[in-house]
Amino acid sequence: MTTATATSAYLIRPGRALDRPEVAKMIRARATWMRDSGYGRWVGWERNADELASQVGDEEWPTWVLCDSANGIVGVTTASHETPLTGWSEDERDQRAVFLQSTITDPHFTGRGLGVLIAFWALDYAAKDGHDWVRRGVLTVGKDNRGLVRYYRRQGWRVVRAVPHSRRRDVTVWSLQRPAERQPGLSELVAW
Ligand SMILES: CC(C)(COP(=O)(O)OP(=O)(O)OC[C@H]1O[C@@H](n2cnc3c(N)ncnc32)[C@H](O)[C@@H]1OP(=O)(O)O)[C@@H](O)C(=O)NCCC(=O)NCCS
Repeated sequence: MTTATATSAYLIRPGRALDRPEVAKMIRARATWMRDSGYGRWVGWERNADELASQVGDEEWPTWVLCDSANGIVGVTTASHETPLTGWSEDERDQRAVFLQSTITDPHFTGRGLGVLIAFWALDYAAKDGHDWVRRGVLTVGKDNRGLVRYYRRQGWRVVRAVPHSRRRDVTVWSLQRPAERQPGLSELVAW
């Protein structure tokens, strides 16, 4: 278990191979939460829990874990420096952007804003590193996962476009972004 520092409640640090079991357990718990909450996409998270966890500490995947002092790892995200093809134009892909994917927080702490904390960290991380944007994608099937798009929009993410998935026509790919920006007050909450 990894704890935060004495001065901040949370710590965000690069993922390590040793974190994998803890991350896999959290992903499975989140999949169960999604299933029980009626969100259809829980199946993929459950099925891919070990594979996603195996990316933590693998240098090909820039994974970061959010830790709190009492509970260890309570969130994970991948913060890539490449914008994917799907949902983004060539010009946009040439811009300097951090792309968030596979962001998951511990469902025992829903409503605490852990995902928001990861997002604000990403804005700061990206700006500090000279990037202009932070981006993320959401896949929806019918109404499933639309709540997530609303949740992100409420936080200030702007929808750039929503397009049908190139291979799965029932899936819509939502492209969201916001400008990278230093977050001066963030260090009171989270060390990184
Ligand atoms: C998305 C996520 C990282 C946000 O973290 P968080 O800020 O700690 O989120 P919470 O668990 O507190 O949930 C926030 C809200 O999003 C809703 N929500 C979460 N996952 C959702 C989903 N897959 N579809 C629709 N709504 C969802 C919650 O019900 C909650 O709604 P409320 O504010 O009306 O109560 C986290 O909800 C999560 O791990 N979700 C499952 C995995 C996932 O879909 N990741 C995003 C990939 S783009």
